[in-house]
Amino acid sequence: MNADPTTPARFALTSRLLHWGMAVMVIAQLFLGVAMVASLDAYHLLRTVHMPLGFAVLVLVVIRIGNRLRHTPPPFPVTMRPLERRVATASEYLLYALLLIQPLTGWAMLSAGGYPIAPYGWLHLPGIAPHDPVLYALLRQSHTALAYLLFAAFTAHMCAVVFHTLALRDRTLDRMALWRRRSESDNRIRVE
Ligand code: HEM
Repeated sequence: MNADPTTPARFALTSRLLHWGMAVMVIAQLFLGVAMVASLDAYHLLRTVHMPLGFAVLVLVVIRIGNRLRHTPPPFPVTMRPLERRVATASEYLLYALLLIQPLTGWAMLSAGGYPIAPYGWLHLPGIAPHDPVLYALLRQSHTALAYLLFAAFTAHMCAVVFHTLALRDRTLDRMALWRRRSESDNRIRVE
């Protein structure tokens, strides 16, 4: 229960842990992917990190979808109009979809290229697409295009949170914070 009206209700602890853990992993994946294709020297080394991290994102996003179905998010802040609420909900669904599809295209791409899929060395996974060079090229382009889309959706999401938190000062960021910030009423008590 949220007794203090100045303190926004928060997402469930599991949602907050998954949110920040996956945010770090996905940003790392975007940078690793770009560095990988830009550097011939470090390509193989970076790929040995990119693949296992990508599979970890895939497992976590499945857990996260289950977690989202179990825990209803807190209500939107009153500063959000109905249209903005609909856009925010749609962008969250888009992010979930991209987090699921992006690692799957990576897996399918390597399958179509005929590469072994052993992200952790000991774990040999089956291919999920037929060995086909044309399909490989198509999936390779899709992996890049989806990464751009993921980056754009993530940037828009971050800008909206920063705008609400800093310009509208409605404490949107606190909804997802790992620990509680001092509430406005605590501050008032200290000043009085
Ligand atoms: C959230 C998960 C993932 C993200 C955000 C991501 C992102 C990226 C990005 C940004 C690139 C560079 C694209 C370019 O500049 O053209 C890339 C390349 C690549 N990714 Fe991923 N990726 C993910 C998961 C995976 C997975 C699970 C696999 C394999 C099972 C994979 C395999 C690859 C490979 C092999 C390349 C390099 C392709 C080449 O050699 O040209 N990725 N990834």
